[in-house]
Amino acid sequence: MGFYSTIIDEISFYTGLSPTAFFTIAFLTFLVYRTVTSMFVSPQDFNKPPVVSARSGSLFEVAEPRREAVEVGEMTETELRLYNGSDKSKPILISVKGQIYDVSEGRNFYGPGGSYTMFAGKECSRALALLSFKPQDINGNLQGLDESDLTILEDWEYKFIEKYPKVGQLVPEQRTQQIEQSQEDYLNEYQQQNRNL
Ligand code: HEM
Repeated sequence: MGFYSTIIDEISFYTGLSPTAFFTIAFLTFLVYRTVTSMFVSPQDFNKPPVVSARSGSLFEVAEPRREAVEVGEMTETELRLYNGSDKSKPILISVKGQIYDVSEGRNFYGPGGSYTMFAGKECSRALALLSFKPQDINGNLQGLDESDLTILEDWEYKFIEKYPKVGQLVPEQRTQQIEQSQEDYLNEYQQQNRNL
């Protein structure tokens, strides 16, 4: 008790504050310190993998390990349709402005039953530009689109560039043996990678 009252006396003597005021200020300072420091990441923590919740379920889905994207090269629209998520051994691909993106990470959106499954395996520039889900708009025809449609499309393109790996380009329908071979290699490599996960 003697020690406690000495501390209280010393605090009042040196700070001129009542013990209650002193401890309140000290506590608030600590809170401010914690809040500010929590806004920064220490250099040691920066490279650590993200912490994944041990809980599983719809709200706390455990993230699947990120797969390296495999380059597909050139593909026709007919071939692209095979990558619509119905075959789980294949990636889900989408084309925007002729560039093919591997959107497998967004399987919840594009896989069977997803809200945007109608875009999977398709060139969907027109639909995105017009914000349309109509089957007749799910193609790469940009005719008749105005400036604002094209701006919307560009915004979508940036979103895809940012979020998904670009794995190839759409080409006109005639196939060459070389394209066929490169796609076979692509699928083999993709399946090989998935087996290794
Ligand atoms: C009632 C209207 C709509 C609502 C409430 C809605 C809602 C959403 C939400 C919540 C997301 C997820 C955003 C995120 O966290 O990444 C999303 C993504 C998306 N939406 Fe919509 N949306 C609507 C209309 C549309 C329309 C008209 C289109 C195109 C025709 C569209 C295409 C997409 C696409 C492509 C994604 C991106 C999925 C991805 O990240 O890969 N949405 N939408």
